[in-house]
Amino acid sequence: MLKAITRKSTKIRKMKGLILSGGHGTRLRPITYSQQKQLIPIANKPILFYCIEDLINAGIKKIGIIVGPNKEQVMDTVRSINWDADIEFIYQEAPAGLAHAVKISKNFLGEDKFIMYLGDNILKGGITNFVKDFVNTEVEASLLLTRVDNPEQYGVALVDEQKKIIIKLLEKPKNPPSNLSIVGIYGLTPVIFRAIDNIKPSWRGELEITDALHWLIEENYRVRYDLVNGWWKDTGTPETILDANRLILDSIKIENKGTTENSELNGKVEVGEKTLIKESIINGPVIIGKECIISKSYIGPYTSIGDNCQLINTKVEDSVIMERTKIINTGKIVKSLIGKEVNIEKNDQSSDIKKFVIGDNSELKL
Ligand code: DAU
Repeated sequence: MLKAITRKSTKIRKMKGLILSGGHGTRLRPITYSQQKQLIPIANKPILFYCIEDLINAGIKKIGIIVGPNKEQVMDTVRSINWDADIEFIYQEAPAGLAHAVKISKNFLGEDKFIMYLGDNILKGGITNFVKDFVNTEVEASLLLTRVDNPEQYGVALVDEQKKIIIKLLEKPKNPPSNLSIVGIYGLTPVIFRAIDNIKPSWRGELEITDALHWLIEENYRVRYDLVNGWWKDTGTPETILDANRLILDSIKIENKGTTENSELNGKVEVGEKTLIKESIINGPVIIGKECIISKSYIGPYTSIGDNCQLINTKVEDSVIMERTKIINTGKIVKSLIGKEVNIEKNDQSSDIKKFVIGDNSELKL
């Protein structure tokens, strides 16, 4: 028994992880004018960190990260943590497609099986079981799939449920043949490089990994699949960032490292060091970073507030507020995504409800 476990983990330890953290993130503008989308925080942690943690928790210790336009920002953020893995960065000059990202990583990936993880995806259940199954099965590729209501917005798979293999793959088809969408986690083997050499850019000008995988199927290679256990989010839009924020906040722990004066903290509330909460009501799940001042405010469920923020005379619900932002005397803010170092101030208190997507360093006088 012990022998079997050791052998399994040795196989996984040989594997590499490739996280894609390039691209422009156009659907998240204006935030992504100044921040790389995979660095947007969900419950005060960059989305990219959830991907790195999933790979490490699955036993993968060599990770390559594709970086693009804001490469310094991604590299500095990743290097700010002492990860239990060797991490290197691979520069992709332009976002020429997921298969292009794999192609330029050939030297890093070498001759071993690897896991590709799209850096804007977030999964509740992690990838440990998926990686174990992939490493122990003789297949050329393995995909995670999940049922969705809008398959035309994703890569879509047609499967043989009995054999547990994929028989057809299409990228964002107008008439999807099933509602099984490709989740951004792929188990791949070096044969994928040959598949990529045999495909052409798609209508959107990208080398699509979906087309390369479909080439494998047509050449009679085995592409298996697993279904996602728990929830999955592709955080490409403000709405999906807020969805993911809600889902992650549901599992935070109650921990108050700050100071509270004449305030009420209800439910799951996590407060960072040197944060002062006075004359306020906080209704969890809520996470508040360190060195914040929350005064005469109401912070409602499903809100994340980054480090060094000030919220004074304000009501916020169901929102992500990034570090060093000040919100003073505004009415109620809901379902909003507010960047770093934003100042929102109103001279007198108002009861209007407001909904924002505000980029970094913005000033709003209401
Ligand atoms: O999220 C799941 C979907 O991801 C799959 O269902 C699709 O089959 C797959 O093609 C992909 O579709 P998207 O349109 O969502 O991919 P997106 O362009 O958003 O890129 C995914 C991630 O990869 C994102 O974090 C940016 C990064 N990326 C993207 C491209 C095109 C790169 O690092 N380099 C690139 O060249």
